[in-house]
Amino acid sequence: MIQPTKQDKFSFGLWTIGWQARDTFGDATRPPLDPVVSVSHLGELGAWGVSFHDDDLIPFGSDESERERLIKRFRKAADDAGVVVAMMTTNLFTHPMFKEGAFTANDRGVRRYALRKVMRNLDLAAELGAPTYVFWGGREGSESDAGKNVRAALDRYREGLDLLAQYCIDQGYPIRFAIEPKPNEPRGDIILPTVGSALAFISTLEHHEMVGVNPEVGHEQMAGMNFMHSISQALWQRKLFHIDLNGQRGAKYDQDLVFGHGDILNAFFLVDLLENGGPGGGMSYEGPRHFDFKPLRTEDMDGVWAAASSNMQTYLLLKERAKAFRSDPEVQAALKASQVDELSVPTLAAGESAAQLRSDVSAYENYDVEPAATKGYGMVHLDQLAIEHILGARLK
Ligand code: GCO
Ligand code: MN
Ligand code: MN
Repeated sequence: MIQPTKQDKFSFGLWTIGWQARDTFGDATRPPLDPVVSVSHLGELGAWGVSFHDDDLIPFGSDESERERLIKRFRKAADDAGVVVAMMTTNLFTHPMFKEGAFTANDRGVRRYALRKVMRNLDLAAELGAPTYVFWGGREGSESDAGKNVRAALDRYREGLDLLAQYCIDQGYPIRFAIEPKPNEPRGDIILPTVGSALAFISTLEHHEMVGVNPEVGHEQMAGMNFMHSISQALWQRKLFHIDLNGQRGAKYDQDLVFGHGDILNAFFLVDLLENGGPGGGMSYEGPRHFDFKPLRTEDMDGVWAAASSNMQTYLLLKERAKAFRSDPEVQAALKASQVDELSVPTLAAGESAAQLRSDVSAYENYDVEPAATKGYGMVHLDQLAIEHILGARLK
C-alpha cells in the first residue's frame, strides 16, 4: 500500500461514497451517509479535498436555519479532517422540475429558477473557498428531436453561463467554471456531448477565459473517444480546469467504476500525461485528482471505503509505473526508433515561407517516398513495453 498524501491532491465527491446504490432496477443497498462522517473518513484515508452538489449537503427544500446548521457542522468536520473544499457544483437534475432541462429547459420559469439555484450555491462556494465550480448538464438535452430547438438551447446555455460568470466577477468571487461533457444519460442525448463540443462552445462565451472543462473518463469512453486524446487537447488549449477520474468498459451506460477498472492501458497513459506531461514532457496538470466513481451496488460500507482507497492506490501505482516507464533506457530507445520526439520539431524551418517550401525540391520532387512507405514504426513494441511496466515485469 502506498500512503496517499495531501500533495497528491486526491479529492472525492460526497455523492460518490455516499451513493446508496439505488439504480433503475433496484432499491438502495446501503444506508445514507452523513457528509460529516464522509469528510472525516476521507481525511483519514489520505484524501486532500472534497466536492459536492448543493443538495448533497443541504437537502432540497431545507429552510434557512437548517441550511446554516448543516453548513456549519460540515465546515467544522472538514477543517478537523484537514480536507479542503476543492470543487462545488449544483444539482440541476434530481428534482422532477428539471425533467425537461435546467438552463436549457423549454420552460422559462425553470430556467430562471435554475440560475438562482446556482447563484445561491456560488455564494456558498465563495464562502467555503472552492476555486472551481462544475457544470454538468445531465438534464440539458432531449429524447425527442421535435421537442428541442438545439440552437436555441445553446443560446440559453451561453446566456446562463455568461450571466453566472458576470455574477462571480461582480461579487469578486475568485471562481473558475468547468463544463463536464457527457453524451447521454440521464437524457437520451445531452447537449455538449464531448470534450471537443464543450471546448468549441466555451470559445463563444463572453468570459471564456474563466471557463474550462471537467472531462470524465467514462463519459468520453461512452462516446467512443480516447480519453487521453481528449485530455491532451484540453491541456493544449489550457482548458483542463478539473478532471473526473473513474473506470468504464466501453460504450454502454455510465459505469463509474473505480479508476483503472476499465481500460488500464489508457489509464496508465493518462496518469503519465497528467504527471509527466506524456511523451516529450511539457505542460502537465496541477489541479485536483478528483474521483467521480460509484462503489458497486454489491458492496457494503467497508467495501465503499475500500473502493475509495482503491482509486488512490491505482493512481499512485500507475504514477510509479509511468515514472519507471519514462526513465527506462529501453523505452527511451524505442521512443526514438518510433520518431516520437521528432513530432516536436516544427515542420517548417524558422522563418520558412510557403514559397520557400514550394521551391524546396528535396521536400517533394527529389523526396524518396519509398523508405517512408516501407519502414516500420515499432508502435506495438512501445505498447508492449508499457504493458510490461504496468504488470511489474520490469521492476528493478
Ligand atoms: C454523472 C456525472 C456527475 C457529475 C456531478 C458533478 O454522470 O452523474 O459525472 O457525477 O460529475 O454531477 O457535476
Ligand atoms: Mn459519470
Ligand atoms: Mn462526473
